[in-house]
Amino acid sequence: MLADKVRIGIIGAGGIAQGAHIPGYKRVADQVELVAIADVVEPKARQAAADHGFRTAYASYEEMLAKESLDAVSVCVPNKFHAPVAIAALQAGCHVICEKPPATTGAEARAMADAAARAGRVLTFGFHFRFMPEVEAARRFAEDGAFGEIYFGRVTAQRRRGIPGWGVFTNKELQGGGPLIDIGVHALDACLYVMGYPDPSEVLGVTYTKLGDKAPTIVGRSWNYKDYTVEDVCNALIRFADGATLMLESSFIANIEPTEEMNVRLSGTRAGLKLFPLTIFGEEHGLLVNKTAAWQPRPAGGNAHLAEIAHFVRCVRGEATPRSNAAEAVKISRLIEAIYKSAASGQLEKV
Ligand SMILES: NC(=O)c1ccc[n+]([C@@H]2O[C@H](COP(=O)([O-])OP(=O)(O)OC[C@H]3O[C@@H](n4cnc5c(N)ncnc54)[C@H](O)[C@@H]3O)[C@@H](O)[C@H]2O)c1
Repeated sequence: MLADKVRIGIIGAGGIAQGAHIPGYKRVADQVELVAIADVVEPKARQAAADHGFRTAYASYEEMLAKESLDAVSVCVPNKFHAPVAIAALQAGCHVICEKPPATTGAEARAMADAAARAGRVLTFGFHFRFMPEVEAARRFAEDGAFGEIYFGRVTAQRRRGIPGWGVFTNKELQGGGPLIDIGVHALDACLYVMGYPDPSEVLGVTYTKLGDKAPTIVGRSWNYKDYTVEDVCNALIRFADGATLMLESSFIANIEPTEEMNVRLSGTRAGLKLFPLTIFGEEHGLLVNKTAAWQPRPAGGNAHLAEIAHFVRCVRGEATPRSNAAEAVKISRLIEAIYKSAASGQLEKV
């Protein structure tokens, strides 16, 4: 257990670092020291350091890891760099929280898990949905056996007009894909977490790019359609080793009814559930009943991102165990890779 303040470094000084990780660490300022921040765009690192009180800024994360003696690192760079950056930080002896998705392939996630095991350090991920009260409660219901055997469900992460035009979210080479790996991964992880992270066995995936690579003459955010290389839509049917199945629908842009829908629906032999708002569908005393919460807590610290960072600091201090772990990261990364592979091959793919 660390007696002193946890010495923090951040790699990538963009949106998620400034919107979630830095505010998260500041909220537990009595337990951490903001030591250094690195970004390939050096002025961005310097500005973030000045704005938030880091002692030093670097253009190279390798130099930061070599020169600073850090206890813990947040990896907040585009998806393609999650594995090399997280592995370098683990090899430098740091505990790591890496943003979602864990990696762009199963092999990368496996290499990260192996590096964490070799280093004996915490490796956890930015799956902040797990700190939402709905997800926490659904997991407690599931552990209690409230749903019986969960055997099918539906995961939605759909936006009608929601292409992220900033950063590199429309660049397949840097991100590994579009809505599936960017937003679908949150809902899919929350769903698997409630289900107890069953082993996926095979998938049928489809992707469509029909609108995002065309001039945006339609309603919506602006984005550079000429550099748009990700899918608009990714849908999949996932089968698990125990026979359960999930339908997954994700989109950045599609002609669908909801403006935005992020949800998980699961059906079990005893009851079913919807995550948002948390609703349990059951049968009691001759009635079909829908249960909802009359009150639910707020996430610790105010929102799920802040709760996640506070929890990571507790894990680094040896006071808690990570809520999302490397073995699950390997599973979800292999699953996402298989969905994209199936979409490309047109075949059912083994996971
Ligand atoms: N948990 C969430 O809800 C959530 C939300 C947004 C983004 N994210 C994830 O966070 C990551 C970053 O997204 P963002 O929105 O902050 O993007 P961003 O583009 O705003 O920031 C990324 C930063 O990383 C820097 N960078 C790129 N390569 C680097 C390298 N090799 N070394 C150091 N810095 C490097 C870029 O210059 C940029 O400043 C992505 O993996 C994304 O999926 C998670």
